[in-house]
Amino acid sequence: MEMPTLPQPTFYIFKCEQSSPPGMPKPSCVNENSRDLFNHTLQTLMKSGVMGPVQLVRTSCLGRCQMGPLMLVEPGHYMYAQLSKEKIDKIVEEHILGGKPVEEYLIPSSYWGEPVNLVK
Ligand code: FES
Repeated sequence: MEMPTLPQPTFYIFKCEQSSPPGMPKPSCVNENSRDLFNHTLQTLMKSGVMGPVQLVRTSCLGRCQMGPLMLVEPGHYMYAQLSKEKIDKIVEEHILGGKPVEEYLIPSSYWGEPVNLVK
């Protein structure tokens, strides 16, 4: 079967959509104050006309729950923390459309160690 050629996505945005029940000791990225951030991101990307080149993906926990709500932009492992609608607008404008990551919203680079080498 022949498949049409499609351009590779320019960006993947992985938005953590993990929600914990009330009363859990560990925070999660989706609660009553943040449950519409995924749709806000989707609408912002649609209004900007970049759906397709930008793939928005719902994910489960990305391991930085204390800093949520968060999302990871690939390529580059850019993890944005403590998101709000205003921050998402700026990330789309400056990083996705402008090519310049918004440094002040990224988790500190000191929070990352070297990747684990899985090659045997
Ligand atoms: S719940 Fe979102 S990073 Fe853990």
